[in-house]
Amino acid sequence: MTHSILFVCLGNICRSPLAEAALRAEAQRLRMDLIVDSAGTGGWHIGEAPDPRAQAVARRHGVDISGYQGRQVKPADFRRFTHIIALDHDNLANLRRIAPQNESGDATAELSLLLDHVPGREGQAVADPYFGDDDGFDVTWDEVTQAARNLAFKLRGR
Ligand code: 4NP
Repeated sequence: MTHSILFVCLGNICRSPLAEAALRAEAQRLRMDLIVDSAGTGGWHIGEAPDPRAQAVARRHGVDISGYQGRQVKPADFRRFTHIIALDHDNLANLRRIAPQNESGDATAELSLLLDHVPGREGQAVADPYFGDDDGFDVTWDEVTQAARNLAFKLRGR
């Protein structure tokens, strides 16, 4: 079975594209077949490339994310993906609110918080670097990279 992972933050221009990039890189390194995507719960940046600071930190780590385009999460995502991973609690709560909840319970995606996949950091949020300075993006990169490594190993074992 091919696992499919959707990372979700607020704007889909800072944290979730970096998580997407980190997991894509890890899957490539491990020669794993994974479907990886990202989206925002907000709709302000639909069609936009990631924030220039997110592009820069990814580039410093050898990954080009300039072609990514912002999109908003939609109910069909809960059926298309096996895993939907929120970057913080607000986004996780919003995902729970918009998940299709009909009688057939057709939302198949398993919901979690990104740092639940980093031992010792379960239940914690990836801070939003958007309103901060450039250093925040280095912190984000480290966090999404740790989570991506652990996730890839977990999914490989399934
Ligand atoms: P992200 O960061 O959720 O990590 O992509 C943000 C990007 C844009 C906004 C908020 C957070 N915004 O308010 O436009």
